[in-house]
Amino acid sequence: ATTLASAAERSGRYFGVAVQGYKLSDPTYAGILDREFAVVTPENEMKLDATEPQQGRFSFGPADRVVDHAARLGKRVRGHTLLWHSGQPSWLAGLQGSALRQAMLNHVTQVVAYYRGRVHAWDVVNEAFADGTSGARRDSNFQRTGDDWIEAAFHAARAADPAAKLCYNDYNVENRAHAKTQAVYRMVRDFRARGVPIDCVGLQSHFTANHPVPADFATTLRDFAALGVDVHLSELDVEGSGATQADSYRRAVTACLAVSRCTGITVWGIRDSDSWRASGTPLLFDSSGTRKLAYTAVLDSLNGA
Ligand code: G3I
Repeated sequence: ATTLASAAERSGRYFGVAVQGYKLSDPTYAGILDREFAVVTPENEMKLDATEPQQGRFSFGPADRVVDHAARLGKRVRGHTLLWHSGQPSWLAGLQGSALRQAMLNHVTQVVAYYRGRVHAWDVVNEAFADGTSGARRDSNFQRTGDDWIEAAFHAARAADPAAKLCYNDYNVENRAHAKTQAVYRMVRDFRARGVPIDCVGLQSHFTANHPVPADFATTLRDFAALGVDVHLSELDVEGSGATQADSYRRAVTACLAVSRCTGITVWGIRDSDSWRASGTPLLFDSSGTRKLAYTAVLDSLNGA
């Protein structure tokens, strides 16, 4: 196969990308998107500050631009993200207790209901666990409403769109030896045991020299999948360049291909110039939209080379 999406499809998987709606008018950007990717994640347009800038006042225009583009091209949408400690509008940051709990669950309900049938998977909660060795929840206004905020969000999302797959999404959970990974694993295991509606785990997969692709990445994926959920590499990018970068991408993709419930991969941007990273060349296309060694490594891996 000669595109990322068609090569992934050979093993029944999707290959997707984070999209910045305002760049869809760039023919190079949209051309690569339309040719190479089967699933889109609005990079910022579905976040809390974008969708509910004032309490009870919803703004879906920017996200609709991405969703409508995807629909026109028969692409699916990963919704990102309903509840996150970062990117909160000022009105939300000013609430606490039951008022906050009510507002955050209303946000989930309203946004998921608006996109009912048009978003195939949601990152319901993003980055709720602390970094480091504690394995503790991240302190946030949401967490301070009580430990059960995460499951409450999943229940609200299920009620609003029973067909959407509901994911928990986080970073630095790729290495099974890490406390944060183990804490997320325990939460998912507990949720599955108690019938909390969770269908998937998004491992963001932002790899760097300090956080490389683990040698046993496939085992981490397999461990989560064994809990009865799908796993997604939800925000894949790799700091670096050249053959070393290409090899890291190859190893990440190969790990997903080794685990049947690793149902898809999303890279976090199209061109290096589109990346969130202030510097570096972490993506599959260079700033002019030319395929890099990393692209070829991914395509060859997906094709089973
Ligand atoms: O839209 C405003 C624009 O009006 C303003 O002029 C400009 C300058 O202040 O800011 C623009 O908003 C920026 C937004 O991206 C859209 O470009 C924000 O400042 C900026 O903080 C935001 O960064 C995003 C970041 O999440 C924070 O939301 C990145 O693009 C995005 O790639 C990054 O993605 C996150 C995932 O959501 C979660 N996992 C980690 C990943 C990387 O941080």
